[in-house]
Amino acid sequence: MSQVKLGMLGLGRGATYAKAAALCKNAKITAICDILPDKLSKTASQYGITATYTDFGEFLGSDIDAIVVATPITLHADHCIKALEAGKHVLSEVTVAASLDECSRIADAVKKSGKKYMLAENYCYIRPWMILSNIVKQGLLGEIYYGESDYLMDFQLRADFPNVSGWRKKVYFDHKGHPYITHSLGPLCQLFGEKIQSVSCMGAGSYPGFKADNTCVLLCRTEKGNLIRLRNSFISARPDNFTYYSVQGTKGCYEAPRVSGDIHRIHIRGMHKPNEWHDINEFSEYLPDEWKMIPADKVSDGYDGGLPILIERFAKCILEGEEGKVDIDINDAVNWTATGFMSEASAENGGIPFNVPSL
Ligand SMILES: NC(=O)c1ccc[n+]([C@@H]2O[C@H](COP(=O)([O-])OP(=O)(O)OC[C@H]3O[C@@H](n4cnc5c(N)ncnc54)[C@H](O)[C@@H]3O)[C@@H](O)[C@H]2O)c1
Repeated sequence: MSQVKLGMLGLGRGATYAKAAALCKNAKITAICDILPDKLSKTASQYGITATYTDFGEFLGSDIDAIVVATPITLHADHCIKALEAGKHVLSEVTVAASLDECSRIADAVKKSGKKYMLAENYCYIRPWMILSNIVKQGLLGEIYYGESDYLMDFQLRADFPNVSGWRKKVYFDHKGHPYITHSLGPLCQLFGEKIQSVSCMGAGSYPGFKADNTCVLLCRTEKGNLIRLRNSFISARPDNFTYYSVQGTKGCYEAPRVSGDIHRIHIRGMHKPNEWHDINEFSEYLPDEWKMIPADKVSDGYDGGLPILIERFAKCILEGEEGKVDIDINDAVNWTATGFMSEASAENGGIPFNVPSL
């Protein structure tokens, strides 16, 4: 096999993969599936894909090596497990699933099938973040001991608010804590090279009619005793910010933009003056070489800028066979997702810490 044949399941978020995969040499989207024929024909004609399916079973039986699962989170367990049982590798959209039990059933199916499963956490591939990851690997920030992230949006501005319906209501608004946690936590856990051991969470009160808090704050303790602080908010009257992160090490600090137009700033003790921040783009030699596969006019610092790299790496590890290791395996993916479930338990119990169960 010289190129992985990818099938795209779910063409909301999924449609963005067709554009990103067009830049990959290890992978090609050869089939698409959605229950809505309109979405199918639109994506098919836009990207010249001829194999289209409305029936998931027929799609699974088609000539594809791997499936990108981009259906609602409440359907991930069913779709991932059936795909693995049919002998397909799985690249799954975030989060892993809607409950701990579903996560554990996916993990069992991954083990049983021997196929690759990777969580498609695109925020781990944000361009400035990949520069930072390499800087941290080289030890320039010293020992990392603290990280933070904010995921802030305002559903009040959406046309249908407060009549949020469907899977988003079930997953986002019918729970306390941080149910959509992997964008915030994933990049930090990957950088720390650690899982989360326990979490405590408190909320600031609910919007009328919703269980979710307007805002909640999580304190996560890592396996080695380091600390991560997350803020999640679906309802806050302010401009969105999905990609605020900060990382503190013994020799330096990184802070992502708080407001649009701001820079990704870094301070390295010994290299920079005590009160000086520098733009992380001054360190672009730390960007992995694979970024060269993205044409200069398509390079972006946004949350999806690294999606082609994510797809390319997933496909590469399939081509490498048994040797190939995915970047974000089921154990990490479930640890991140389960921290979200445990944050709800903590928020409902006065903020006391809850251990995050391991598989
Ligand atoms: N990584 C990111 O930045 C990002 C952004 C948005 C959404 N997501 C994730 O992507 C996934 C989908 O989110 P979305 O916003 O596209 O949701 P959506 O509801 O807008 O779209 C889901 C699509 O799946 C299709 N679908 C539903 N059931 C199906 C079935 N049984 N078989 C085939 N197709 C089916 C729907 O028709 C629809 O086109 C979720 O897991 C979400 O968390 C990730």
